[in-house]
Amino acid sequence: MAVDLLLGLQWGDEGKGKIVDVLTSNYNIIARFQGGPNAGHTLEFDGIKHVLRTIPSGIFHEESINVIGNGVVIDPVVFVKELEGLDKYNLDYKKNLIISRKAHIILPTHRLLDAASEASKGKAKIGSTLKGIGPTYMDKTGRNGIRIGDLELENWQDKYRALANKHEAMIDFYNVDVQYDLADLEAEFFAAVETLKRLTFIDSEEYLHQAQKNGKTILAEGAQGSLLDIDFGTYPFVTSSNTTAAGACTGLGVAPNKVNEVFGIFKAYTTRVGSGPFPTELFDETGLKMAKIGNEFGAVTGRPRRCGWLDLVALKYAVQVNGVTQLMMMKGDVLSGFPKLKVCTAYNYKGEQINHLPYNIEAENVTPIYTEMEGWKEDLTEMTEVSQFPKALNAYIDFLEKELEVPIKIVSVGPDRKQTIHR
Ligand code: GDP
Ligand code: IMO
Ligand code: MG
Repeated sequence: MAVDLLLGLQWGDEGKGKIVDVLTSNYNIIARFQGGPNAGHTLEFDGIKHVLRTIPSGIFHEESINVIGNGVVIDPVVFVKELEGLDKYNLDYKKNLIISRKAHIILPTHRLLDAASEASKGKAKIGSTLKGIGPTYMDKTGRNGIRIGDLELENWQDKYRALANKHEAMIDFYNVDVQYDLADLEAEFFAAVETLKRLTFIDSEEYLHQAQKNGKTILAEGAQGSLLDIDFGTYPFVTSSNTTAAGACTGLGVAPNKVNEVFGIFKAYTTRVGSGPFPTELFDETGLKMAKIGNEFGAVTGRPRRCGWLDLVALKYAVQVNGVTQLMMMKGDVLSGFPKLKVCTAYNYKGEQINHLPYNIEAENVTPIYTEMEGWKEDLTEMTEVSQFPKALNAYIDFLEKELEVPIKIVSVGPDRKQTIHR
């Protein structure tokens, strides 16, 4: 069987967790392919609201297997807390959750290096979640990393010590004020590793190849969003992994010709946490209203998310880079009550009108050009089918479909699993 992909098309937090949970009943396996505990994927159902970090969003479905792929970076400390948070639901992790031996491990010193690097950048900081993501991927590509499979070796702690010592020297080199007590951090880390070792470690690429051969259905779950991709995002204000479709191939060992549907998720407007350019950002009452109604606060750091109008130039770019075959529009309910809606359909780039995402989208180069549309007043959150949609919402959706040339198959009208309308 082929593999379907689900990806965020903006700067993250599009609602990936919710949709993976909605779609899980169609799949045997849910597999996360990149990122780590910088992600916060929110699921809401039956009065439960739960945020997942590294664990795939299919975990609440007993019959599905959740794979953490080789492209993911795992912090044992965060991971064990995540497991503890799930304890009350009596899930069978030994059976339903399996981890790639090739996934890299975030060490306590990776988190410290993240903090030192950000402190040294001053105003130019990335706005990282400070979970150690960048330093861990640097050690991966630098061929110094420690992997889950290493935990099965007798001498892995020697390797750990050598790497941690090197990190301490690097932290000194930054010459910034990062206070820490490594002994405390290590005690917590080694205890967490022991808990982690009770789970099942596998050669996940082989597992997924066999699953495909045996006709199992697989959904690959992305973290972050396309505009945070290390290659195609708004560099350097990005994360350190490939968040786009290609990342699912390298992060799971899925061959490109085995990819079937690519589900692209976007909010009906745009948000971003952390630093970096954001052409359609709103600095006025309208932006504050979006943030308030949309409850736009980071699921991991609690930081307020910056808000702005939908940017079709950026969205088209993400659709192309990923080869999106079906779109899902989230948080349409948040836009109820805005008299007029704006959609950015082109950029004024250094005095010239363009329709593609240029190398640099900093405010001094780019001014968005908007198409204005009628808003709708109706509350969407109780709606259950497309026939109930106000005319203006249908016009908004039709306009986006025409511009993006991909069908919008799901419209989400609230955070709950049930507030999902199929078109
Ligand atoms: P993810 O990282 O892509 O999984 O998204 P997050 O969980 O970080 O952020 C999405 C937020 O929006 C969460 O609080 C969700 O519960 C919420 N959410 C998802 N879909 C909708 C929707 O259609 N309407 C509203 N109002 N909230 C939604
Ligand atoms: P989910 O999967 C939104 C952002 C950070 C920062 C930049 C780099 O929930 O959509 P990092 O910690 O990776 O070094 O941070 O990327 N970022 C996210 N923004 N959602 C996320 O994940 C994010 N993961 C990282 O805010 O700007
Ligand atoms: Mg999130």
